[in-house]
Amino acid sequence: MPVPTIEWVGGIDGRVKMVDQTLLPNELKYVFCDDIEGINNAIKILMVRGAPAIGIAAAMGTVLGIRKKNSGNFEDFFKELKKVTAYLGSSRPTAVNLFWGLKRMEDTALRNKDKPISDIKNILFNEAKTILEEDKDICRKIGENGKTLLQDGSCVLTHCNAGGLATADYGTALAVIFAAVENGKNIRVYADETRPLLQGARLTTWELKNAGIDVTLICDNMAAHAMKQKKVDCVVVGADRIAANGDAANKIGTYNLSIIAKEHNIPFYVAAPVSTFDLSISTGDDIPIEERNSEEITHIMGNKIAPDDIKVFNPAFDVTPAKNITAIITEKGVINNPDAKKIRDVIGNKQ
Ligand code: MRU
Repeated sequence: MPVPTIEWVGGIDGRVKMVDQTLLPNELKYVFCDDIEGINNAIKILMVRGAPAIGIAAAMGTVLGIRKKNSGNFEDFFKELKKVTAYLGSSRPTAVNLFWGLKRMEDTALRNKDKPISDIKNILFNEAKTILEEDKDICRKIGENGKTLLQDGSCVLTHCNAGGLATADYGTALAVIFAAVENGKNIRVYADETRPLLQGARLTTWELKNAGIDVTLICDNMAAHAMKQKKVDCVVVGADRIAANGDAANKIGTYNLSIIAKEHNIPFYVAAPVSTFDLSISTGDDIPIEERNSEEITHIMGNKIAPDDIKVFNPAFDVTPAKNITAIITEKGVINNPDAKKIRDVIGNKQ
């Protein structure tokens, strides 16, 4: 069974408990956060990571930020709430689930503005816990909707980690694999190591191995060769933000994979919840791409592998154009050959 990635412990005065993903697979350690600085930092350093898990952390962080505010009226309370959401929103720019989670908390406060502040705080606390519970359900639905795309005996290539660790507990891309296996199918997986931060090597292989699924680790630059050797039947990845036309941002290197999958006539699937769509932007060109510090490239797990002062380019994500995506698997259904109309038909007007 996947481990619980993040949870709230106790009542509204309690704290957030999460797996420190920077330490896996060498150590499974839980850390506790009881203030917004802790949550902001946990998101920044990828202690908690993966778009849906970041959304959950943001909602819980909002509760930590507002629970002790002594505002006399709703206007003052909402100003404080906005300061908290703006601060948490500054942690990472690409995964839209972060902003989705924060907006959902703001909207919940606004819907209840006529209630006493103490009641609003409790409503926000319950909303954060609801977001976590909903995510569990959503991931299972993604798995159910995607499992029929995998044939018995097939081999799936995945990139980064879109598993239980990236969500409340079951994953998006890995949910499709988990559900197919639970359905009695024999599925093998190739996991890209996913430089620079090695989410594939450290997290995806760990999760799949724990689940008893046959997983083989490859370096990112081996995927084309594996495809040419007919070792891969399809690619399934997650997403951090999907534009209205279906262009999908995901971990750096996903775009490369989509191109080589197309070259080898291999289906390329993106599995993501509706909360990962950003219908306010028409194409992937408008997705903000996070650039991270150069040490992630010049060092591997703390060991220097490049000369001092070498120039570095370190984008954390890239955008796969919709034309390279065979289907997007959501909790509301599978969107084949995605385009703006098909996306709206399946997910509705999310905004
Ligand atoms: O930088 P990360 O580890 O947060 O990047 C995560 C990914 O790119 C995942 O594939 C994506 O968030 C989907 S998680 C279900």
